Amino acid sequence: MSTSIREASRRIPLAMVAIRPARIFDINEVMRIERASFQEQYPKGLLMMFLENNPNTFLVAEYGGKVIGYVMGYLRPDLEGHIMSIAVDPEYRGNGIGSALLAEAIERLIREGARYIGLEVRVSNIGAIRLYERFGFMRVKRIIGYYSDGEDAYYMLLPADEWRGN
Ligand SMILES: CC(C)(COP(=O)(O)OP(=O)(O)OC[C@H]1O[C@@H](n2cnc3c(N)ncnc32)[C@H](O)[C@@H]1OP(=O)(O)O)[C@@H](O)C(=O)NCCC(=O)NCCS
Repeated sequence: MSTSIREASRRIPLAMVAIRPARIFDINEVMRIERASFQEQYPKGLLMMFLENNPNTFLVAEYGGKVIGYVMGYLRPDLEGHIMSIAVDPEYRGNGIGSALLAEAIERLIREGARYIGLEVRVSNIGAIRLYERFGFMRVKRIIGYYSDGEDAYYMLLPADEWRGN
């Protein structure tokens, strides 16, 4: 029997998932999802500082009282709304939660004055790249050796005036 991630995911109704600003007591759950999703993690202190500085654009997805996804966005001085990290608990992927988190972060960053939304993504992360392209992000640059293991990143941008909601 195949054991692809897609088959392992639990089907849940998106209407039962709340997207809300993260709070300090969510940080451990965010770290759990981060560990399950990335080779490298941000130190807890940095996540706390990020939350303190960006309380409106560090969001979590909550289902049945449990945090199952997060997105960290911030507005840069050059008015780029940057997505620093986004991940969904592997058990709950494929339910539209990543899309819902990304859409809410984009909305909020544009409301805060972002002219563009930008992010970096591993060139091998086909699923995420497809998701971003569906949102209208364009690959504007390939950054050689961006990640500590040497992998390249695409720097992707979505102009705010091309965002029509998702
Ligand atoms: C990228 C990610 C946040 C998307 O979250 P998600 O909740 O699965 O997103 P959605 O349900 O909105 O689906 C978006 C896309 O994810 C992919 N996807 C769908 N089901 C999936 C599953 N069970 N497992 C993995 N990816 C799946 C598909 O490409 C889907 O697009 P499609 O609807 O055209 O098939 C999630 O896969 C994740 O946490 N990945 C690991 C961390 C990561 O790579 N983050 C991005 C770094 S730049």
